[in-house]
Amino acid sequence: KKIVTVAIDGPASSGKSTVSRCLARDLNYIHIDTGAMYRGLTLAAIENQVPFDDEKELFDLLSKLNVSFEHHEGRQHVYINQRDVTKDIRTREVTNHASEVAAHSSIRKELVNRQRLLAENNNVIMDGRDIGTVVLPQADFKFFLDANVEERAHRRHKENLERGIESSFEEIKKELEERDFKDKNREVAPLKAAEDAIIIDTTEMDIHQVILKIKEYLSEES
Ligand code: C5P
Repeated sequence: KKIVTVAIDGPASSGKSTVSRCLARDLNYIHIDTGAMYRGLTLAAIENQVPFDDEKELFDLLSKLNVSFEHHEGRQHVYINQRDVTKDIRTREVTNHASEVAAHSSIRKELVNRQRLLAENNNVIMDGRDIGTVVLPQADFKFFLDANVEERAHRRHKENLERGIESSFEEIKKELEERDFKDKNREVAPLKAAEDAIIIDTTEMDIHQVILKIKEYLSEES
């Protein structure tokens, strides 16, 4: 039986993770949230007082970390070694520094290897910034979700409030812009749509519509 791989990339708060999670649940695929891996290392760097620009120390730290995913009651939980860090990796501090950690080439190389291993032998939906371009260039389907920054800031703001995280729309917007800028302009594996990606502008769409649209593409060609 042929294995199907789906790559979903896009800027921060474009809806990638939610869309990927729902699709994976509906299609019974594995969902790999690669952003959680960069966030996991960022959290560990903060806790171990490793500076974000010290690539070698970060790499040593990463080599001691096992990042894994488990699913309970339809929710994805993220673990570093045996510890559940699902909540801890979503703080503002981790969010704002993950793109610094993710800019180092040795870190990316190691995490890309791990991501490919997780995808081996499984039907998989993987979301991130470089999945269609670097991690799974041979993916059967590549989507690039985009939305204007105002809309994405609204979504993140709402999500924060729902999670009980303190939130300011203006600050979120500024932080999203900064993070997108870093992700798009870094030297290694910058955020961009693969040439063969299907670009979906979700500004005027809700999650359900995006999921339906992707399912249309998936069923057309299979
Ligand atoms: O997707 P999420 O917002 O959780 O990603 C956090 C950060 O991790 C991004 O801003 C980006 O710097 C980095 N990242 C990356 N490559 C990926 C996924 C995430 O560089 N494939």
